[in-house]
Amino acid sequence: MRNPIKTLPRQIKTERLELRQLDANIENATLIFNAIKDENPKDFYFNPIVDTDIIPTSSQQMLQQMKLEEEFIRLNGVIFYVFYNNDLIGYKRLYFNNEDVRMTLQSSNIWLKKSAWGHGFSQEINKKIDEIAFTQLGAKRITTQCSTENTRSAKSLESSGFHLDGIARGGGFLPDGTVYDNMFWSKLESEYLGE
Ligand SMILES: CC(C)(COP(=O)(O)OP(=O)(O)OC[C@H]1O[C@@H](n2cnc3c(N)ncnc32)[C@H](O)[C@@H]1OP(=O)(O)O)[C@@H](O)C(=O)NCCC(=O)NCCS
Repeated sequence: MRNPIKTLPRQIKTERLELRQLDANIENATLIFNAIKDENPKDFYFNPIVDTDIIPTSSQQMLQQMKLEEEFIRLNGVIFYVFYNNDLIGYKRLYFNNEDVRMTLQSSNIWLKKSAWGHGFSQEINKKIDEIAFTQLGAKRITTQCSTENTRSAKSLESSGFHLDGIARGGGFLPDGTVYDNMFWSKLESEYLGE
């Protein structure tokens, strides 16, 4: 049976943003590349946009990454690009595990352009993901992770109502092989429903 995450609309509106699924083609790769090419790699250390350089160095490299990620999400995932006033400002990846009773939405990678930090956009996206998970997909829990050193991400998850389940020492690694302590967060359906 088809995973329900694969039936989500291609465009979803939040209060201020639009989340859009984009096909892997050179037009979209160029759009993304132009939006992020001047970002500082240091700001994306914990969430590299491409494995080798953190920030892509060409539209072609961005297209290769999009094609790779299309494979990752083929059966049970979705990638939304984040638009504000029609400008591309970010990225969010989700997976849905509907094969056991826990029915878990794994809220994976997120990045926003530096100029879009500090406006509550990450929290706004998380709010919409809660709604999708618990009212549309039938998820029982949402999980997510971040490095203990990524204080901005941890703060955002806490403000989004996630519960810190624990820290897996040496539980995460970056494409360059750097190992980090990984914070594991969750949110339950009962918490969303206020039970
Ligand atoms: C992680 C990341 C997405 C967080 O973005 P962010 O903008 O800091 O996150 P938030 O949405 O939580 O917003 C932060 C602050 O905006 C402010 N804000 C302004 N307007 C707001 C609004 N309307 N609603 C809520 N907060 C608002 C608040 O002060 C909020 O912090 P607080 O709730 O703790 O007071 C961003 O830092 C990023 O892209 N980092 C690089 C990639 C990365 O590391 N990704 C995570 C990998 S695990």
